Amino acid sequence: MDFQEEIFRRRTFGIISHPDAGKTTLTEKLLLFGGAIQEAGAVKNNKIKKAATSDFMEIERQRGISVATSVLAFIYKDKKINILDTPGHKDFAEDTFRTLTAVDSVIVVIDVAKGVEEQTEKLVEVCRMRNIPIIVFINKLDREGKDAFDLLDEVEQKLGLSVTPLSFPIGMGYDFKGIYNIYEKNINLFSGDSKKDIEDTIAFDDVSNPELETIIGLEAAEALRENLELVEGVYPAFDKEKYLGGHQQPVFFGSALNNFGVRELLDCFINIAPSPKPKMADERLVEANEKNFSGFVFKIHANMDPKHRDRLAFVKIVSGTFERNKPYLHVRLNKKVKFSSPNAFFAEKKEIVDISYPGDIVGLHDTGNFKIGDSLTENEILHYKGIPSFSPEHFRYINNADPMKSKQLYKGIDQLMDEGVAQLFTLELNGRKVIGTVGALQFEVIQYRLEHEYGAKCSYENFPVHKACWVQPEELQSEEFKEFKRVKQKFLAIDKRGQLVFLADSQFSLQMTQQKYPSVQLHFTSEFE
Ligand code: G4P
Repeated sequence: MDFQEEIFRRRTFGIISHPDAGKTTLTEKLLLFGGAIQEAGAVKNNKIKKAATSDFMEIERQRGISVATSVLAFIYKDKKINILDTPGHKDFAEDTFRTLTAVDSVIVVIDVAKGVEEQTEKLVEVCRMRNIPIIVFINKLDREGKDAFDLLDEVEQKLGLSVTPLSFPIGMGYDFKGIYNIYEKNINLFSGDSKKDIEDTIAFDDVSNPELETIIGLEAAEALRENLELVEGVYPAFDKEKYLGGHQQPVFFGSALNNFGVRELLDCFINIAPSPKPKMADERLVEANEKNFSGFVFKIHANMDPKHRDRLAFVKIVSGTFERNKPYLHVRLNKKVKFSSPNAFFAEKKEIVDISYPGDIVGLHDTGNFKIGDSLTENEILHYKGIPSFSPEHFRYINNADPMKSKQLYKGIDQLMDEGVAQLFTLELNGRKVIGTVGALQFEVIQYRLEHEYGAKCSYENFPVHKACWVQPEELQSEEFKEFKRVKQKFLAIDKRGQLVFLADSQFSLQMTQQKYPSVQLHFTSEFE
């Protein structure tokens, strides 16, 4: 297979959902179709159960498991599928945001009874900002849930999407009989009462054919005809270009647990989902089929064994091929590095791999050279865009609780921040360090890891911040900016990249500041045009 074909057959995507909507179950069913696992239940559940949210030891254990499921790859109908794991737990939302910079498309799973939930809204917003192609899978149709049309409305309104159903349920819950596949024009029926097996796939391109009544019964046939007519009248026809541009989102219905509607989803997915796309760097747009290798680090995973402080850096290949033992340029360090044992991921296994293609993820052993967002190239200076930091939700001063171990503490903090566990801000006024996290849980994780991996002790102190806002550098020289800096001195800090950040202590003070200093541009993410 030549280079171009290798690129063309790759599909790298993420599955996103609110916890419990069925992401893990769907992933597992996709792996079953790909023959990557033999039985259901084989994928370890890497989600952090609700019960464990205050138990950080449990999180540490889960962290180990999730290395294995960070990337799940398999072959289906000759397509190489890479599923990137996205933690559903909201305390780890930032991990998920970063992973979304490495996917070429996503599947959003929604629970038919619960509809659009909070976490889904946030994640889809990030996808929309980047025009990532989205397919929606409405799950748990074997249960009573919301009316299909109401749900489609909800998806459009709450998620700001423009949907078009490519399958439609025949009944729901107790009366769930099967799925009409609008994309392929056929009917899939459940067998028996168990709703466990697909009885038949019946080609059926004309629902007005009276045979429909014989197959699904009079009532269901009438309802289906009516529904499909409505679908045709209300929703636009599927347009692949619009989907690829992030302007239209096809919807599938099914039940992941019962393996129903999943094949339809997967078959359509491999047909329409994009192969690796070009990626924008600060310097230029880089095409996947360029000869020279380039890639970027979107995730760093610490080793579970505290005695070995090495980590695994996950690199998404953007262009060219990544080869074992070949020297590449680490752009930030301006240093050549080579890797004797890059890992590729297959189903749940890691394997040393000689060559990887655009769209693939390689895991590189790292002793502290990588930060999230780092670029690797053949020689060119490239800085990939699209890995911003978002304002953390919780802020605390971090203090050294063991003066003899300050070196270890700072090294530990530094490395944990490189991994993206949390964000560090240094106050301009007095140099004190403030840690910002998405969830309260990370404070415990940091304290625990500093102690166990670095032999350092820390304590925290409250620091009330409503939001961190990044200050646009162009404005730094104006009189207004000088005034802003003088008055707000107490609330200014520098982040890890050296960018100036305003830590607003309330929504009110943020608004007042914006009104008073209109030329000082405040941004809610660290990356802006
Ligand atoms: P998540 O990764 O999105 O958090 O969800 P997960 O797949 O773990 O699914 C959450 C729960 O929903 C699981 O039940 C799972 O069995 C169930 N589920 C998934 N798909 C379907 C479906 O199509 N129909 C029905 N009825 N249930 C579904 P659980 O009891 O929380 O966990 P478990 O003990 O079954 O693993």
